[in-house]
Amino acid sequence: MISEEQRAALIQAALAVRAKAYAPYSNYPVGAALLMEDGSIITGVNVENASYGLSMCAERTAVFKAVSQGQQKFLAVAVVTDNAGSPCGACRQVLTEFAGDVPVYLVDAGGNGRDTTLYALLPDHFGPEHLT
Ligand code: THU
Repeated sequence: MISEEQRAALIQAALAVRAKAYAPYSNYPVGAALLMEDGSIITGVNVENASYGLSMCAERTAVFKAVSQGQQKFLAVAVVTDNAGSPCGACRQVLTEFAGDVPVYLVDAGGNGRDTTLYALLPDHFGPEHLT
């Protein structure tokens, strides 16, 4: 279970890191924050490129940072955008590799939004269990 304090801290981290997004082409900055198993928070932002297709989403930045730091499992994720937008399909798939049906907090710039879960966003997903 995620406490109210953990939820608030996760959303705050995603709100804060969003200021570091590099999104000059879309003007759609995104901040993401993962609550890891050990209680730490690992954040990410979208990083765009003049060669547009090379851009990276905030959620995947956060996941790749976490794995690089030796942290794989996360317990919840917060995503902050202008309009509480939902993660793209690629990010849903990558997030699912490292979590179960965890809470996903979708939040707008004012701190409002909605709560969903990873499996609600990606039902009947392909996962590591299919390769064993
Ligand atoms: N973006 C994310 O960072 N996460 C998502 O789940 C959706 C889209 C980014 C990619 C691009 O930099 C900008 O938002 C507009 O698509």
